[in-house]
Amino acid sequence: MPIRLRRATLHDLPLLRGWDEDPDVVSSDPNDDWHWEEELARVSDWREPLIAEEDGRPVGFLDIIDPFAEPSRYWGEVPPGLRAIDIWIGAADDRGRGLGTEMMRQAIAKCFARADVTAIVIDPLASNVRAIRFYERLGFKPVERRRFGEDDCLVMRLERPRAASG
Ligand SMILES: CC(C)(COP(=O)(O)OP(=O)(O)OC[C@H]1O[C@@H](n2cnc3c(N)ncnc32)[C@H](O)[C@@H]1OP(=O)(O)O)[C@@H](O)C(=O)NCCC(=O)NCCS
Repeated sequence: MPIRLRRATLHDLPLLRGWDEDPDVVSSDPNDDWHWEEELARVSDWREPLIAEEDGRPVGFLDIIDPFAEPSRYWGEVPPGLRAIDIWIGAADDRGRGLGTEMMRQAIAKCFARADVTAIVIDPLASNVRAIRFYERLGFKPVERRRFGEDDCLVMRLERPRAASG
C-alpha cells in the first residue's frame, strides 16, 4: 500500500482542524488541545508531527515524541531512550482499511532506526477497546492503567526487537 509519512506543516492546519471535528477522533482524545498553530510552527528535536498520505491524499496524523525531552513532561519521570506515539485516521471512511497498521509499521521502524531507542509507549483511553486491540496486534503489551489529567488510560509498550542471534 503506497502510504507515505511526511512532516506536518502549517499548510496542514485546515486539514488537522477538520479532523479534530470527527466524533471518533474527539472521543479518543477528549481533553487535549493540540494548539496546532504553535506546535506546527515550532521546530523541535523532541517531536516529529507527521501526515500520512495514501497516493498523495492526506489520510491521517501521527505524532512521535521523546517523552524524556518533551518540556511539559506529560509522561512524568521517564528515562531517555523512549518514544511515544499518537495516531489517528481523519475520516471514518478511511478507518478499517489497514492504513493505521501501515502508518504504525513505518513509525515503529522510524523510532527503532535510532540505536538509542529501547521502547515505544502509547496511552489509549482505557475505554477505547478497538484502539487497544489495534495496538496489541502490532505487538504492544499493556503495562499499567494510568490517569493523565482527566483521562483514564491504558499505558502500552513495545520493546525494541532483539537482534536475531546466531
Ligand atoms: C485506531 C486507528 C488509528 C486504527 O487505524 P485503522 O486504519 O482504522 O486500522 P486498521 O484498518 O489498520 O486496523 C483495523 C483495526 O483498527 C481498530 N479500529 C478500527 N476503527 C476504529 C475506530 N473507529 N476507533 C478505534 N479503533 C478502530 C480496530 O482494532 C480494527 O480492528 P477490528 O476491525 O478487528 O476491530 C483508527 O481507527 C482511528 O484513527 N480511530 C479513531 C481515533 C483513535 O481511536 N485513535 C487512537 C487513539 S489512542
